[in-house]
Amino acid sequence: MSGARRSPVVAGNWKMHLTRPEARALAERVVAALPALGTCRVVLIPPFTALAEVGRILAGTEVRLGAQNLFWEDKGAFTGEVSAPMLKETGCAHVLIGHSERRRLFGETDEVVNRKVRAALSAGLSPIVCIGETLEEREGGRTTERIDAQLAAGLRGLSGGDMESIILAYEPVWAIGTGKTASPAQAEEVHAHIRRRLEGNYGNDRASCAIILYGGSVKPANSYPLFKEKNIDGFLVGGASLEADAFVGIVGEALRADREET
Ligand code: PGA
Repeated sequence: MSGARRSPVVAGNWKMHLTRPEARALAERVVAALPALGTCRVVLIPPFTALAEVGRILAGTEVRLGAQNLFWEDKGAFTGEVSAPMLKETGCAHVLIGHSERRRLFGETDEVVNRKVRAALSAGLSPIVCIGETLEEREGGRTTERIDAQLAAGLRGLSGGDMESIILAYEPVWAIGTGKTASPAQAEEVHAHIRRRLEGNYGNDRASCAIILYGGSVKPANSYPLFKEKNIDGFLVGGASLEADAFVGIVGEALRADREET
């Protein structure tokens, strides 16, 4: 598979953290401290309650806004849910779908992921679709089987054109919030596998342009060697995205590695 290095993407998933004033302060610190981004795309993903507030701070900057979840219907009697057009209207460019916490704690299946991805795409949002194996699956030698199943069902029926708007995030469940990062070689092996699957389904051009992020205990100290791997295009950051210095440090490392290659 050929092609120039893809522009890096670094997304910060704030999960269920931060009041609105705290979210505003963090967004302001991130925006003020970011190096000139060039071709790097940075996404901040606050909780729903802080979306509008953070969106106001990001307006006029290159940093994009993302949401953590959506429901697949546009509107209706679905108490407690938020739709893709609502997120779009609030200024979101991206939405996380199928995060392992949603799968594990809220019973989201690959079929649900597929419905949500379609809803996001029809509203003009770019979904960041999370996939990854549990420790049990890895130790049982079933990593690629699990990844293949998540890709097949989660992206079912989507066209090559749709793939241009989709970002994939490989997040081994055992590495999320645990301080255990996949080694660069472990992550690269799965990223390369994902890209081969995309090539089989959508062709070489689409596969070589696809953005595949790594997530799971990413910090400034481990991001550079991960990003140096050929098929790792950036990061989905949880814990470290709650500290401006750490998050900006990760962006800096991705840009440093990117500059060395271009
Ligand atoms: P972590 O979370 O960086 O805290 O491991 C990653 C994620 O959940 O996306």
